[in-house]
Amino acid sequence: MVNQKKIAGEKACEWVEYGMVVGLGTGSTVYYTIEKLGELVQQGLKITGVATSEQTARQAEKLGIPLKSLNDVVEIDITIDGADEVTGAFQGIKGGGGALLREKMVAEASRLNIWVVGEEKLVDSLGNFPLPLEVIPFGWKQIKRSLEKEGIQATLRTQQNKEIYQTNNGNYILDIVNQTFTNPIKWQEKLAQVPGIVEQGLFLNYVDIIICGKADGEIELIKK
Ligand code: 5RP
Repeated sequence: MVNQKKIAGEKACEWVEYGMVVGLGTGSTVYYTIEKLGELVQQGLKITGVATSEQTARQAEKLGIPLKSLNDVVEIDITIDGADEVTGAFQGIKGGGGALLREKMVAEASRLNIWVVGEEKLVDSLGNFPLPLEVIPFGWKQIKRSLEKEGIQATLRTQQNKEIYQTNNGNYILDIVNQTFTNPIKWQEKLAQVPGIVEQGLFLNYVDIIICGKADGEIELIKK
C-alpha cells in the first residue's frame, strides 16, 4: 500500500535550497519531510529550521537540523506543513495536532507556504474536520457557552488519559464540531471578535502549493 503521507512529505524537500530558513510544520505528514531534510543535512545541505511545535523541534534536533526561534529570524524562505482539510480555493483547516497558533505565525512570516497532504484531505468545502480554537484557559467555559448560545457546538480537547489537552503555549483547544464553513471568511471575522480565542484553525489564503500524495502512488501538485 502506498504511504501517501510519505511520498507527499518527501517531495516537498525539492523546494528547499542551500542556505534557506525553513519553517517546519507539525504532524504525521510533515514528519516525513523533516526526516528527509535530516538526511539531506547529513549529506551537506545547510538550512536553518524554525519549528512550529516542541514535538517538531525534538525531531529536528535529533536529526541535526539547526534551529532558530521565530524571534531570531527576519523572514522564512519556505514553510512546509500538513493540513487537516484543504479546498481547491486554497482554504484550509489546521490544528488537528494542536499547533495552529505557532503554525499560523510561522506561515505568516514565510515567503512560500507548501502543504503536504494525502488525497483524503482535499475537500469541496470545509467542516468535516472539527475546527480548532486555541483558547485562554481562564474563562474557556464562557467561550464555549457563548458559542453554544449561537448554536455552535464546541468540545474541549482532552488527551487519551482524559486530562485536558494543553498547547505548547499553555492554552486549551475547543473544537467546533458538526458545522460546515461555507463562508470561511465570515467565520474568521466572527471568531476574531470573541475575547479569549487566541487563534482559530481556518487558514485562508496562506498556502501557495499543495503537494498531494495519492493512493496510486502519483503526486499531484496544486499551485496557486
Ligand atoms: C497540526 C496540524 C497538522 O498539520 C494537521 O493536523 C495535519 O496533520 P497530519 O499530517 O498528521 O494529518 O495542523 O496542528
